[in-house]
Amino acid sequence: MQVTFKISRFDPQQEEAKQHYKSYTVQTSPGMTVLDALNEIKWHQDGTLSYRKSCRSGICGSCAMKINGINGLACETQIEPMKKKTIVLDPLPSFEVIKDLAVNMDPFFEHLAAVKPYLINEEPPPDRERLQSPEEFKRISDPIACILCMSCTSSCPSFWTDPEYIGPAALYKAYRYEFDTRDKGSEERLEALDNRHGLWRCHTIFNCMDACPKNLKITHGISLLKRKVIAEKY
Ligand code: F3S
Repeated sequence: MQVTFKISRFDPQQEEAKQHYKSYTVQTSPGMTVLDALNEIKWHQDGTLSYRKSCRSGICGSCAMKINGINGLACETQIEPMKKKTIVLDPLPSFEVIKDLAVNMDPFFEHLAAVKPYLINEEPPPDRERLQSPEEFKRISDPIACILCMSCTSSCPSFWTDPEYIGPAALYKAYRYEFDTRDKGSEERLEALDNRHGLWRCHTIFNCMDACPKNLKITHGISLLKRKVIAEKY
């Protein structure tokens, strides 16, 4: 079927650059994804179109964008099941647009870095690896599957109103290490978590879970993290 893609365009190098929409028509086929359509447009219709992509298989998180008003991965969104003649594509909300569908990811990764998303353990390592039981691993397997696509943070109303809020993705990564039995870094992470732009800015709105392309239980993780900080510090 023929589908019209109405794509948000913005080129800061153009004089008097203004966001506007440009439409392209693509002949789709079963199994074709939004990313396939974007490639078709870029390669055969308009080489000036900019967007991020890499793995094409829902692993790298690069191609997250707003698809018909909902954040998601272009490479995982098939066109024909949407049953739409027109599909509107916008960059992820609340991040500065660099060009067209590509946003500045720096603030997102700065917030992520603030929660020290790595194992902290100064104790001398055992002869072999630091072991973990299958049950202990199960507690953190969900956040390990997070691909850092930014869909959750970009969909969070608390982030829309407070750009300094570190956001659900960073909090969920903090949860991943805080509940890892091998980690001893709670004190080091506390500064980033226990402040008005940290954990307490989450008002349990759940948009983050609706937006997550991996269906991760982000809000649940943040709630457990809040309880842990309250129990350990207050
Ligand atoms: Fe935002 Fe998700 Fe909390 S949408 S307010 S981080 S539950």
